[in-house]
Amino acid sequence: MRIILVGWGVVGQGFAQILLRRKMELVKDYGFRPRIVAVVDKEGAIIDPKGLDLEQMLSLKAEKGTISTKSKNGCLGRSALDVMESMEAEALVEVTPTNIKDGEPALSHIKTAFKTGKHVVTTNKGPLALALPALTELADYNNVQLRFSGTVGAGTPVLEFAKKCLVGDSILSIQGILNGTTNYILSEMDEKHISFQEALKDAQKLGYAEANPTMDVDGLDAAAKLVIMANWIMHKKVTLKDVKIKGIRDVTPEDLEDAAAKGSTIKLVGSIEENLKVEPTQISRHDPMAVGGALNAVTFVSEFAGEQTIIGRGAGGLETASAILRDLLDIKENIASKMIA
Ligand code: HSE
Repeated sequence: MRIILVGWGVVGQGFAQILLRRKMELVKDYGFRPRIVAVVDKEGAIIDPKGLDLEQMLSLKAEKGTISTKSKNGCLGRSALDVMESMEAEALVEVTPTNIKDGEPALSHIKTAFKTGKHVVTTNKGPLALALPALTELADYNNVQLRFSGTVGAGTPVLEFAKKCLVGDSILSIQGILNGTTNYILSEMDEKHISFQEALKDAQKLGYAEANPTMDVDGLDAAAKLVIMANWIMHKKVTLKDVKIKGIRDVTPEDLEDAAAKGSTIKLVGSIEENLKVEPTQISRHDPMAVGGALNAVTFVSEFAGEQTIIGRGAGGLETASAILRDLLDIKENIASKMIA
């Protein structure tokens, strides 16, 4: 499978590392031979239709901080759209940073990939939160597949758990802790009786929260993930504007103490029932969703199988990259089964 990789940050590099480490097994166990024919970063593109030397590219990035200006195959200023329009490949892996305002540039990358007949795997929540119903239609229209399991839970297979393990059952509702940064902040406030601002500073020091933490603490990141789950798992045609969102800025140590007196704690919970909402919510300390630190936890209530909770790390370069590989293998399997049918 020839792949164009757009984005060379921690997730893009994590994906390259996994491909290098699992190269033999991917061929032996799955007959999968991924070949990265182009990498596009902020400065330009590096291209080799025969397949790029990923080891060399990882060292270049580590030593020089950039790849397109330093590689012999580098094309400075060459855009992702241009690369997709001019190069043959079966898939686009899109791992640029999330932009929740207009989804760009990822939205254009994904649309161009569809138009040029490429399957898409993305970890970018922006285009999906704003336009998932339209994007799935566009993928179907162009007879290609769109996969995004790394957008929710990173490496924890939240979307697959619901879609594949609970197949045939009817999922009635979903509740989840979908943002690790806010879970870390609330857990710290609860355990150490410190203020939101103090806990936020700790989270920033540890690299959990961004310098501008609004995506996390104002609930937007969790809301984007909720939209993805509602569309993909529950077939609701919703976007970010359909979610009622309240972040954690107003939660005080006193609120947490009041909750503790009742055997509860406060978590930023996203829920899909009749409506979609994200808000600080009191939950029992014995609830399986009452996870600490930066973990994610999602509880599915289904008609026959009842209640299940999946817990795991919801962020990280290698974790998210493992979801990309899963998605590519899923696409490969679907193509193979269509050919047999
Ligand atoms: N910033 C997110 C979190 C990770 O804290 O969970 C990426 O989705």
